[in-house]
Amino acid sequence: MKRETAIIGESLLIAQLKQLALQVAETDITVLIIGETGSGKEVLARFIHANSLRADKSFVPVNCGAIPAGILESELFGHEKGAFTGAVQSRKGYFESADRGTIFLDEIGEMPPETQVKFLRVIETGEFQRVGSSETIYSDARIIAATNKNMYQAVAEKNFREDLFYRLRSVELQLPPLRERGRDILLLAENFVHEFEHKHKIIFEGFSPDATETLMRYPWPGNIRELRHLIESLLVLEKGRYITPEILEKHLVQRNRYKSLVHDPARSEKNELQVIYSNVIQLRQEVSEIRQLLQHLVQTRPVVPLLLPDTSATVPPFTTALRRSFGENGNPASTKERLHSLDEIEKKSIAEALDAYHGNKRKTALALGITERTLYRKIKAYGL
Ligand SMILES: Nc1ncnc2c1ncn2[C@@H]1O[C@H](COP(=O)(O)OP(=O)(O)OP(=O)(O)O)[C@@H](O)[C@H]1O
Ligand SMILES: [Mg+2]
Repeated sequence: MKRETAIIGESLLIAQLKQLALQVAETDITVLIIGETGSGKEVLARFIHANSLRADKSFVPVNCGAIPAGILESELFGHEKGAFTGAVQSRKGYFESADRGTIFLDEIGEMPPETQVKFLRVIETGEFQRVGSSETIYSDARIIAATNKNMYQAVAEKNFREDLFYRLRSVELQLPPLRERGRDILLLAENFVHEFEHKHKIIFEGFSPDATETLMRYPWPGNIRELRHLIESLLVLEKGRYITPEILEKHLVQRNRYKSLVHDPARSEKNELQVIYSNVIQLRQEVSEIRQLLQHLVQTRPVVPLLLPDTSATVPPFTTALRRSFGENGNPASTKERLHSLDEIEKKSIAEALDAYHGNKRKTALALGITERTLYRKIKAYGL
């Protein structure tokens, strides 16, 4: 099987999903794939196509979110010469190109309302008109749509037509986020290691058991795509050397720091959380550096434990808040206790930053690399 059509994963959730995907592949039923960003929606869509009777015809991916609303309609349905300024030639749309194959409509939740009406008709009859033409065209394209949005909310807020939504989700396939896939994380990591060892001609010395633990515990808000990018940069930048938790965390911090600099007004709660965690990881590193420095200066017993809780050796890099927010329950008591001290560090840092900026929330949030909204939430949560 070609790489892009293989679904790597042995977790129960994925095994069941593959089974279901193979069942629907045999039919022409419309499929809606739901999953977080980078969780493999396109990979799953290609898998369905590759296992269908349409496998030798085209798979046409369309990112509805990336095409400006005014252009999407002509991209999907095509246009006639002179239909609008700039339409110097008539052009086939994606639906025509996908005739007898599969059209994959990614980020379907972003489709503008006018296009939704036309699209509903295509799903029901296979018929449409090119922009600027009255001639009806027929396309036998199998439709697979995908979204990382909460479509129920989009429907409730009247941003997405209810009739279209129910028509689309004849079959709904839910892709689990990577953090819920257990040892698939390591299986995927191993595959990416092979891929990038080969691509960059590097021999990788491996992960330490603690670093492996960190991989398993990290929440992967960017899912498989994030894991893949991380493995590539680890191999290349560390030149294949043995990866300890310190090295791994340094890379996670750097990636997240970069992300937090990118202004994204639509930044989701989860990304915000990631920024907080990266700050916690960063704090933890700094604590450990301060401890080393003090140990060096005061050659007797280290004085740091008086100032800060002992976190560097045992505390896992993610807070209880993280666990709570991703709904994981049943942590053993000892883990909970150890995690607690990270909240303390976070509280202390926020309090200190607020002090340093004389209570100015905007400056404090900026200095901490979090949004003001998050800062307000934290202030409330910690009773600062
Ligand atoms: N099961 C898998 N095995 C191997 N690689 C995978 C798997 N699923 C996804 N990937 C890889 O992860 C990356 C993201 O996958 P994909 O583009 O399918 O995600 P997506 O859910 O469509 O993301 P987005 O929401 O951003 O569109 C790609 O590089 C893809 O090759
Ligand atoms: Mg995609």
